[in-house]
Amino acid sequence: MAWQPDDLVRRLDDVIEVYGAAMGYHAALLQTRRGYVAAHAGRPGFRAVATTGDDGSLLGFGYGYTSTPGQWWHDQIRASLRRDDGKSWMSDCFELVELHVRPGAQGHGIGQRQLRALLSSVPHRTVLLSTPEADEDTSRAWRLYRRFGFVDVLRNFYFPGDDRAFGILGRTLPLPARVPA
Ligand SMILES: CC(C)(COP(=O)(O)OP(=O)(O)OC[C@H]1O[C@@H](n2cnc3c(N)ncnc32)[C@H](O)[C@@H]1OP(=O)(O)O)[C@@H](O)C(=O)NCCC(=O)NCCS
Repeated sequence: MAWQPDDLVRRLDDVIEVYGAAMGYHAALLQTRRGYVAAHAGRPGFRAVATTGDDGSLLGFGYGYTSTPGQWWHDQIRASLRRDDGKSWMSDCFELVELHVRPGAQGHGIGQRQLRALLSSVPHRTVLLSTPEADEDTSRAWRLYRRFGFVDVLRNFYFPGDDRAFGILGRTLPLPARVPA
């Protein structure tokens, strides 16, 4: 289901809980993320989707917004791209910020449905995301993004203050009707 910005804020406890469980993050890190997530809901172009169980519990969510100069993530990526690549990827771009499914609910197509719903609802020409580097064959996230036609924009990218390597992936929009195959 589509979520309005208010829905994300109202269910912030559940969002943070699913996020932490999906990524294996500690409570301290999650507390700092809480503030970011709430602030993201107010950004231009914000779109969110969520999946709930029969009892209303949150099984998964995803969200993003328009990527614009002055945003930390946008500026980090743009500074690392050649000028023409930066222009073509980032001048009319939706940043897919988070996409997570509760571990017990993974592997049943929820992530795929959320990704399709989110990307079908945005008017931008491109979508970009960052995801931790992992084995493409065994990582569910990487397999999902590849099925949706995401290509490498930057690999082994390091954000300041984070010692994990990330892949920056992107694709043009709109999605073809038959993705994923
Ligand atoms: C990445 C993530 C969002 C994917 O969500 P998911 O719900 O597990 O993914 P899906 O179920 O849509 O796809 C997973 C598998 O189910 C299969 N599937 C799709 N539809 C299905 C259905 N209706 N019934 C059964 N299986 C289905 C897919 O083919 C896929 O197979 P694969 O894993 O062998 O490639 C989720 O696993 C997650 O939160 N992971 C941890 C956090 C993370 O890495 N997030 C992204 C970081 S940016």
